[in-house]
Amino acid sequence: MNSSKNVFFTTPIYYVNAKPHLGHAYTTITVDVAARYSRMSGKETYFLTGTDEHGDKIVEAAEKQNKSPQVYTEEISAQFRDLWPKLNISNNDFIRTTNPDHIKVVEDLLTRIHDSGDIYFSEYEGIYCFGCERFYQERELIDGKCPDHGTEPKKIREANYFFAMSKYQDWLIDHIKQNPDFIRPERYRNEILSFLKEPLEDLCISRPKSRLTWGITLPFDSNYVTYVWFDALTNYISALGFPDGELFSKFWSGTQHFVAKDIIKPHGIYWPTMLKSAGIEIYKNLNVHGFWNVSGSKMSKSIGNVTDPVAVTAAYGVDPFRYFLMREMTFGLDSNFTEEAIIQRINSDLANDLGNAFSRVLAMNHKYFNGEIPDTDRDIEKEKELSLKDSAIDTIGAFVGAMDQNEFHKGLIAVWDFISIINKYIDTSVPWVVAKDKTRRKELATIIYNLVESLRVIAGLIYPVMPETSIKMFRVLGIQFDEDREFKTIEEILPWYQSCAGTRVEKTPTLFPRIDPEKIVQEIREIKSGQEDERYQDSGKESSLPLKPEITIEDFAKIDLRTGTIISAEKIKKANKLLRLKVDLGEQEPRQIIAGIAKNYGPEDVIGKQVVVVANLKPAKLMGEISQGMLLAASSDSHLLLAGFESPVNPGSQVK
Ligand code: MSP
Repeated sequence: MNSSKNVFFTTPIYYVNAKPHLGHAYTTITVDVAARYSRMSGKETYFLTGTDEHGDKIVEAAEKQNKSPQVYTEEISAQFRDLWPKLNISNNDFIRTTNPDHIKVVEDLLTRIHDSGDIYFSEYEGIYCFGCERFYQERELIDGKCPDHGTEPKKIREANYFFAMSKYQDWLIDHIKQNPDFIRPERYRNEILSFLKEPLEDLCISRPKSRLTWGITLPFDSNYVTYVWFDALTNYISALGFPDGELFSKFWSGTQHFVAKDIIKPHGIYWPTMLKSAGIEIYKNLNVHGFWNVSGSKMSKSIGNVTDPVAVTAAYGVDPFRYFLMREMTFGLDSNFTEEAIIQRINSDLANDLGNAFSRVLAMNHKYFNGEIPDTDRDIEKEKELSLKDSAIDTIGAFVGAMDQNEFHKGLIAVWDFISIINKYIDTSVPWVVAKDKTRRKELATIIYNLVESLRVIAGLIYPVMPETSIKMFRVLGIQFDEDREFKTIEEILPWYQSCAGTRVEKTPTLFPRIDPEKIVQEIREIKSGQEDERYQDSGKESSLPLKPEITIEDFAKIDLRTGTIISAEKIKKANKLLRLKVDLGEQEPRQIIAGIAKNYGPEDVIGKQVVVVANLKPAKLMGEISQGMLLAASSDSHLLLAGFESPVNPGSQVK
């Protein structure tokens, strides 16, 4: 379906008002999978992600941390930029909307649209949601409240610049109808079309500097900055060096935008009409996915139950995490993230199915042929129906068909169906029986050869989702790569009989260790009790404890102590020493801290309490729960006492 030879993949550029969470990781991994698959399909591929750094939201978040927007955006943007290599994201560029080159292109685009007569100045009174940074129409609200933030938009009256978006309504409807997969999957195309049944309003694209200065100044009126969405959407062309850049002429017409359903209006309505007005070709496709909920509830910054991709990857490994996200979610629909589900997928799909098939075949190759790939006998293949070639070709066909349609989970299902065909093949061809009969040596060789060939195909197909495992499998199978890449194209995977007889195959390493849920809980308990020993356990004679070795002031300065206010507290089932706390450290979202204080404090005792938090402690898992910090407490006469303050302090203040 993505028929252009050159393809440009984009993620949304993420707001820097909070650190990266599971939702950002999902979109970015999805686009990475699509981009890796595109490269495997022999297409020239360019992949962009980045951060969206202007606007009210960012100023507010920076203020909360007593930082300038410049310092604050630099810090959070770096967290996104540094996360992506950990998740094996293969982006070609990382754009920031504070880059001078981007700012120039925003000015250029505004000038073009202004010159085309589509920007006018007018007084406007409307209802405005500060969270969304946009005006709403009454009919878009739910019970008078913003559907995304649940807050009542404020009425504001202002003179502003408007983009004559309504002028392009009929054109846009027509464009969507003429290009049935312009917005996909279909449910989101229908959503936009049904929105377009009502008259489209013009778009307010400026904010007076009296209200907001953290933005890009309008080239035609220096009293205003431009609306953050106008600025943000432009990243997709500024990163390619619009208007004259080589990348722009090479890649723009093959653009594949990927976003979640929360931002389809800016992408499906504002952006194509802006492009149309400026006389720029319209992007090719808008690919829209659903939302991850965490343990059944909506994941949002305000709820604070966001999952930290760094912690999940540390616990389960990057390939299993990528596999889980791609296998569990049907692109376009919502899905649920739970630890049980990820453990289940790792144990059954990865350790049992793929891992076992791999080690089973290689173990037989070692046992029967001393680790050298044997040669197949094509007559025996035919006579005894021992060839796996047709199944492999069908698998590749099903995989390609699914991946071309963004049906990543179906692509994986095709591979896993093939794995179960392989397991059945082993069971019915009974190599251990054949091995006992010396006259059937060629038959045994044919069976093993077909199995090794099948593993080669699997190694090739899992590449977009699990690049590390793919490379590892190829290397074990003794397959070489071209110098400049570590994957095989679909064309290269296709031909059967590629494995060379005589090639030495490594002894099999374990691809995926099984996760024992009991053991994980046990390990967590050990970590927990270890921490409790060090942290709070009452020896009954604290004062007689020998002092730890002397440290310098620099050593101490590494510890970031902050004031926090406990805003919620609850007991944790089966852990009678622990409380699950939400602690406000003055950040965008409260942190979850698991504290071993339940023997001395009930939830009701601590809510509202101000405490001292070790804020830069590496997140740890206690009873399966992430703890993002630690409270300071003293233990005295078998009692724990939380460290606190004489009078109220601002959350997030440094304690020195
Ligand atoms: N800055 C804008 C985008 C501008 S693009 C020109 C923005 N940023 S955001 O940080 O809020 O990111 C929104 C995107 O993050 C979603 O569209 C989606 O890609 C991803 N997700 C955020 N939460 C998510 C889930 N709970 N589930 C899946 N994806 C989610 O909007």
